[in-house]
Amino acid sequence: MYILGINAYHGDAAAALIKDGRIVAAAEEERFNRVKHCAGFPAEAVRYCLRAAGTGIEHVAHIGISRDPSAHLHKKILFAATRAARQIGTSRQPAEGSKQAAVATIDSDVEGNGNGNGNKNGPGLFRQVKDRLNNAAKVRDLKEELARVLGVPAKSIGAQFHNIEHHRAHLASSFYVSPFQRAALLSIDGFGDFISTMWAVGEGNSINVLDQVEFPHSTGIVYTATTQFLGFPHYGDEGKVMGLAPYGKPRYMDEFREIIRTEANGQFRLNLDYFRHHAEGVDMTWDQGSPVIGRIFSDEFVKTFGPAREKGATLTSREEDIAASLQQRLEEVGFHVLDHLHDATGLTDLGLSGGVAYNSVMNGKILLNTPFRRVYVQPAAGDSGTALGVCYEINNGILKRQRGEIMLGAYTGPEFGDSVIRAELQQSNLAFESFSDEEITKRAAQDIADGLVVGWFQGRMEFGPRALGNRSIVVDPRRADMKQILNDRIKKREPFRPFAPSILEEHTAEYFEQSHPAPTMLMVYQVREERRDQIPAVTHVDGSGRLQTVSREVNPRYYQLISDFKELTGVPVVLNTSFNENEPVVCTPRHAIDCFLKTRMDVLYLGNFSVRRKTE
Ligand SMILES: [Fe+2]
Repeated sequence: MYILGINAYHGDAAAALIKDGRIVAAAEEERFNRVKHCAGFPAEAVRYCLRAAGTGIEHVAHIGISRDPSAHLHKKILFAATRAARQIGTSRQPAEGSKQAAVATIDSDVEGNGNGNGNKNGPGLFRQVKDRLNNAAKVRDLKEELARVLGVPAKSIGAQFHNIEHHRAHLASSFYVSPFQRAALLSIDGFGDFISTMWAVGEGNSINVLDQVEFPHSTGIVYTATTQFLGFPHYGDEGKVMGLAPYGKPRYMDEFREIIRTEANGQFRLNLDYFRHHAEGVDMTWDQGSPVIGRIFSDEFVKTFGPAREKGATLTSREEDIAASLQQRLEEVGFHVLDHLHDATGLTDLGLSGGVAYNSVMNGKILLNTPFRRVYVQPAAGDSGTALGVCYEINNGILKRQRGEIMLGAYTGPEFGDSVIRAELQQSNLAFESFSDEEITKRAAQDIADGLVVGWFQGRMEFGPRALGNRSIVVDPRRADMKQILNDRIKKREPFRPFAPSILEEHTAEYFEQSHPAPTMLMVYQVREERRDQIPAVTHVDGSGRLQTVSREVNPRYYQLISDFKELTGVPVVLNTSFNENEPVVCTPRHAIDCFLKTRMDVLYLGNFSVRRKTE
């Protein structure tokens, strides 16, 4: 029985397909249409999932989307009415005449999907109601949209349709594919379906929600607002601030403890004076392009910290210190919620999801700062992963079918056989060599040890933001200059951002102060002091590393590559960065070849073939 899950009409649109409880395919739309964090409808991703299964939409029994316009509806209406009354009272119209005037927030909407189709000039309440109706209609019209993009008559789709509340989809994505039969679950996020944070107990085939934090209070909003204030305006820039934080000192803790306050029972609240999302609304676009989010922080930020940094301006110690304080405050609030979740459940296994679960620095400290002993982070913890969560909420939560899938890696995307790769290479008029399975990893390991920049394109593409050894650029972590080389020649990233290590799982404890597996690169641990000089290219300024632990079981070819590198050098670690320049991670051999040709990568390994840059 096939179940199709969809994340549509907000960032990181994606589709996932499972068959009899097993993952067949899952991928983000951005990988196909090459628009970063693409919102809108994941038409290409749906087509890919069906292709991977060798089936058609008429054979899918259940289809779900990770939002439920009717969820928490009384709260949404109450909020809209209260705000409308306030607006009428002050004659203040939000974002009047702006390109996109819907009030919406990170990660999902509040009351509309903000796709720019709303009444641009109408009074606030009218527009809000209209947006909500548009949005509800859009979700209702899922069947028509699917039929349209797949070019089939709507009546050929016999599936039962489901709206799965946003956070239930997140929670399901971190539980039903985890190794746990019983676990505490936390979805920590920007917003989705009017909720920012939800916690629960998962047991067998059910998820029992314990509590939630409602709009407008959100850790994700604090992080995004501060990220904007620090001059990083793009959707997904929060990771840059996380990378900047270790350069600073947390000297603004009083200020951030005022901006976001913790309360009893795991709750927290924002000081709303610092924000615009609840009162004035924030312009956003959720149409087919990259999401664009208007300014969330209010002038109170400026009063407290001074002028906002302009994008591209020199970074000073003020920005570093603000980033450090923000990061530390996020951790405090996160552990506050987790401590409560442990107290409420007595459990020590944790399933983690939501956009804030991409904060790998916080994740890496959970075992040190809370009673939790094992953590499963959904590899696509952000909104793309809700597509998968939808599948499993239907499979287990609704249909109560038997569990059986444990998602240890994230290799659920397209793969390409050697005949396809060979044809692409021939079409590109590139001279290439081919190698046996044993030779290919040895050759690549030698190139890495020789200091070359190696493109490594193998097997199925990863789901979620991290390249995990199938769509990766791999270099020698022993060379301190590798960071600079990668930035000069390919990545062009801000110099303060770290690069990440992949390590053979069994050697983790030799190099890091913690050894809990991190197979999807969502944990940051401290590199052991005595090892830092050995792997300087992957050791951040504070001695940390966002590691990927690699096992033979989860990724045999990548494991072999690192083993071969260890044979040559004695070091069981490589530097792994995503295979892309400044675009979504490559998906096809064509994308990989294009990236190879337009950057100064030295060697490209595609399946069992290699292409070497000619020395000029
Ligand atoms: Fe979300």
